[in-house]
Amino acid sequence: PAAFTLRSHVTSPGQLFKPLLLSPPPQQVSQRQDVCCFSSVPSQPVPPLALTLQGYLRALEPLLPPEELSHTRRMVQEFGRPGGLGAKLQEGLERRARHTKNWISDWWVQWAYLESRQPLPVHSNPAISLPRRDYNDWRSQLVFASKLIAAVLDFKAKINSGQLPVEYMRGKPLCMELYPLLFSSCRIPGPKHDYISRHGRSRRSPTHITVVRNYQFFQLEVYNSDGSRMTESQIHSQLLRIRSQSWKTDKEPMGILTSEHRHTWGQAYNRLLRDKLNKESVRLIETGLFSVCLDSPVMRISDEKYASRKAAQILHGGGTFSNSGNRWFDKTLQFVVGEDGSWGILYEQATAEGPPIATLLDHILDYCEKPDPKRAPLVPLPMPKKLYFHIDREIKRDIEHAKQNLDILINDLDVNVFNFTEFGKELPKKHNLSPNSFIQVALQLAYYRVHNDVCPACDIASQRMFRGGRTEYIRSPMNQTLRFIQAFDNPSVSVRVAMLAGNHYTDFIRICHGIDHHLLGLKLQAIEEGLSIPKIFMDTAYGLATHWKLRTGQVPANTDSVMCFGPLVPDGYAICYNPQADHVHFSITAFNCCEETNAETLAVTLKETLYQLQELLQPAV
Ligand SMILES: *[C@@H]1O[C@H](CO)[C@@H](O)[C@H](O)[C@H]1NC(C)=O
Ligand SMILES: *[C@@H]1O[C@H](CO)[C@@H](O)[C@H](O)[C@H]1NC(C)=O
Repeated sequence: PAAFTLRSHVTSPGQLFKPLLLSPPPQQVSQRQDVCCFSSVPSQPVPPLALTLQGYLRALEPLLPPEELSHTRRMVQEFGRPGGLGAKLQEGLERRARHTKNWISDWWVQWAYLESRQPLPVHSNPAISLPRRDYNDWRSQLVFASKLIAAVLDFKAKINSGQLPVEYMRGKPLCMELYPLLFSSCRIPGPKHDYISRHGRSRRSPTHITVVRNYQFFQLEVYNSDGSRMTESQIHSQLLRIRSQSWKTDKEPMGILTSEHRHTWGQAYNRLLRDKLNKESVRLIETGLFSVCLDSPVMRISDEKYASRKAAQILHGGGTFSNSGNRWFDKTLQFVVGEDGSWGILYEQATAEGPPIATLLDHILDYCEKPDPKRAPLVPLPMPKKLYFHIDREIKRDIEHAKQNLDILINDLDVNVFNFTEFGKELPKKHNLSPNSFIQVALQLAYYRVHNDVCPACDIASQRMFRGGRTEYIRSPMNQTLRFIQAFDNPSVSVRVAMLAGNHYTDFIRICHGIDHHLLGLKLQAIEEGLSIPKIFMDTAYGLATHWKLRTGQVPANTDSVMCFGPLVPDGYAICYNPQADHVHFSITAFNCCEETNAETLAVTLKETLYQLQELLQPAV
C-alpha cells in the first residue's frame, strides 16, 4: 500500500527557496572532485536516523488516532533502537554515501519515475504555460517558434562553453550537472521499468531537433555544416517548409502511443521497433536535442476558461481530436507553440527538474526581448526530413487503445486555473510573513473547509546544494497548522492567536528536515541487502503518511506563468501557485471520477480563504 508514485517538481528560486537544514555531514566526506560539471558542491549527508524517525512520528500525530499512533510509535522505537535494524540500514546508507555520487538521487529517480507504471501525461510530466504572446495567426506562430528554437540553442551553447553561471542559494553554490542532460535525452519505456537514453554527451552528439505538426514528425537540422547554429531566419524558412509538408491530419498519431500505461507502451514499443523504418524514426525523435510542437488552433472559449484550457493543452494536448498527437511524452523537453499566442513547456521528470527549467525559460524570455538579429543571406538548406512509420494491424490496434485511454484520462482531469487579483505576495511581506507560508496555510485551511480534515501534503525543496542532489519533500501540516485551522473557525479564539499559530509554518519550514527520501532510502537499503521490508514500511500508517492528497508546487518564475500537473493520488489535488507582487496565479487539478474532490469547489473556497486572511492582516476600520 505504500507504493504510491511520487514525483518531484519545481521549487522556488532565490530567497523563496526552502533549503532543508540537515545536520553537518558525517565525518567521511568523499574526496571525489570530478563529478559535478561546473562547481564542486559537498556531498549529500545521510540525515541522523533518530531525527528522521522523530520527524516521521511528528508528521503522523495530526493524521492518526491515538491508539494507532502509539502502535506505530512502538514499532518505530523498535526499528530505531541502538543496534537494531534501523541502525544497521543506516550504516548501509552511510557506506553508500561514501561510495556513490549521491546516496539517494539515483534510487529516487529509479523508484519514483522509472519504475512508476503510470502514464506520463497528467500523472507525471509537469507543464508550464507561459504568458500569451501577442499574435494570433500561423505566420506569427512560426516566427515565434523560430525565435524560441534559436533561444534554446543559445542556452545550450552557453552550457557547452561553460558560460552558464553557477547558481547560488543562500550563498551556497548549486550542483549544475543537470543542465547538459536536458538535451538529446528521452525516457524509454520498458515492460518492467523504463530507462533513460542520453545522447548529448556522445562524441557525435546530435545536431537536430524534432518538429511535429498535424501528428507528423520532422527531423530538423539546426546546425550548419560548419558547425554554426542556424539563424532565426534559416530556422523560419525551414518551419515554413515543414508546414507545407504537413497539411493534412489524416496521419496516424504515433505520439499518442507514448501516453499509455508504461507497461503497455513498453510492449508496443518493442513491436513498433521490429520494423527498421520505425526504429530509425523513433531513434531520431529520441536523440533530437528537444521537440517543438506546432499546435493547430483550438476552438475559442470564454476568457474565464481560457487559462485553464491553455494549461491543459500544454499538459496533454487537449485530446486525440485536438493536439495530443503532437506530443512525444517520453521526450525530456517539449516546447508547445499555438497559433493563438499560447506557448509553454512540457518536461519529463526522470531527467528534468523545475529550477533548471525555470532558468531556461528565463533565458528564452530574455532572448525574445532582444531585437531580431540581421538576416543572414540564405544558402540553400536540406529539406527537413519527414519521419515515416510502417503501421501494421497490431500497431494500429495499439494506437487505437492508446487513443481511448488518453481520452479517458483527459476527460477525467479537471483543470482549474485562475488569476487571484485581490493581492499578491506584497501583502504577506508587508506583515513579515513568508508569501509561501502564507499561501500554504491558506491551502491547508481551504482543504480543511472542503473536507473537514487535514491530509498529508507535500511541497518540494531542492537538494541541489549537494552533489547530484535532486529534491526532498517538505511535509505539512504539523500540529501547529492544525491548531491554526481550528482556531481560525472558532470565533471565541482571538484573531491574534490564530495569526501567531499561522506563523509557525515558517518556523516549521526552517527547522524541518526532510524525512521522506531518507525513509525511502532505508527501505531500499533493506531490499538491497536482501532483507525483508522492515515492518514500519508495511504499517498502514506509512501508507497513510505517504498518500499525498495535496501536492503543492510553486512556479519558480519571474513571469506570470502557470504550472500544471495532475494529482499524485486518485483522491487528491495538485495545486500550483505563482505569487507575483499584486496577484497570484493558481492551478488546481483533481480527478472527476473521485466524488470527494472537486477542483472548482476548492478554488472557490481558496479564494474566500485568501480574502479572510487578508481581512485578518488588514482589518477594515
Ligand atoms: C492577473 O491579474 C493581474 C492583476 O489584475 C494582471 O496584472 C495580470 O496581467 C493578470 N495575468 C494574467 C495572465 O491574466
Ligand atoms: C501534537 O498533538 C498531539 C495530539 O494532540 C500531542 O499529543 C502532541 O504532543 C503534539 N505534538 C507537538 C509537537 O506539539
